Amino acid sequence: MKVVTCTAPVNIAVIKYWGKRNEELILPINSSLSVTLHQDQLKTTTSIAASRDFAEDRIWLNGKEENIQHPRLQTCLREVRRLARKRRNDAEEDTVSRILNYKVHICSVNNFPTAAGLASSAAGYACLVYTLAKLYSVEGELSEIARQGSGSACRSMYGGFVQWVMGEMEDGRDSLAQQVEAETHWPELRILVLVASAEKKHVGSTSGMQTSVQTSPLLKFRAESVVPERMKDMIEAIKKKDFEAFGQLTMKDSNQFHATCLDTYPPIFYLNRVSQEIISLVHRYNAHYGRTKVAYSFDAGPNAVIFTLEPTVDEFVELVTCCFPPESNGDPFLKGLPVNPTSLS
Ligand code: PMV
Repeated sequence: MKVVTCTAPVNIAVIKYWGKRNEELILPINSSLSVTLHQDQLKTTTSIAASRDFAEDRIWLNGKEENIQHPRLQTCLREVRRLARKRRNDAEEDTVSRILNYKVHICSVNNFPTAAGLASSAAGYACLVYTLAKLYSVEGELSEIARQGSGSACRSMYGGFVQWVMGEMEDGRDSLAQQVEAETHWPELRILVLVASAEKKHVGSTSGMQTSVQTSPLLKFRAESVVPERMKDMIEAIKKKDFEAFGQLTMKDSNQFHATCLDTYPPIFYLNRVSQEIISLVHRYNAHYGRTKVAYSFDAGPNAVIFTLEPTVDEFVELVTCCFPPESNGDPFLKGLPVNPTSLS
């Protein structure tokens, strides 16, 4: 038996991916850019065992067995195994060939709420692909395979600041993740996650994107006329470590993503009242200082991701704790992240 265990962190998009031009290959209608969290924060841990005693491939997510026949899981398994057959070198040929004939048991756990709009599928599929690659000794570009598990997963294959270039080719060979800057580039940058609700989201990203692509004229405008320029500006802001520009672009892009959700018919609501209160708190805080010291971003859920610089963290956390006291009976603001294992989205 061979067993491999790896971890992959969540990534938070500051220029959002929303909408596919090819559903099967998961090719996006716009490029996107994200920040990958540190390995010891929000992450997925996956162990894969290969043994001649296993009768079939099986998968457990957060302790519960899931259907291994899920098409995207199958794509990842098939593609890594295909690469392993192609790329294996002579020295390893015997072991890899042997393991390639064995079935695998996959066990994956998240240390944060799954499918609550905290990019669980990104970390999940990135980890699956990376761990499979280690099992079969495959090296090199893997973001193309992770992308076919969950689009945003391709960005979790790298640390630091990562862009997913949408690409132009029909077969998706050029739709890949690329590191813009390494994780060491901006050491003062901090990310806080405010959990407004650990519940599963009502509309998953796959079906939400489909309806948006079909019905939202704003989404088309965004993809063609807003994102290309914004990607350039964001890369420049990151390279210069210009928090003012970085924060403003991040908030504008989150707002436009949620505007396209409202422009979708029927509309999709990911933000709740707590999210809206956090948005206005951030703007009031920045207005008080006359500059952007804090920025928010929301994915497909109500939980806020806050970007700020190290010297601002304590004061802002104190302010949030004051405005959303943990003991209040109103909407819950949970400090820290509850471990709430359910299943991979
Ligand atoms: O990769 P998916 O299908 O989970 O979609 C992710 C979509 C957003 O999180 C809303 C945006 C993004 O770029 O991560």
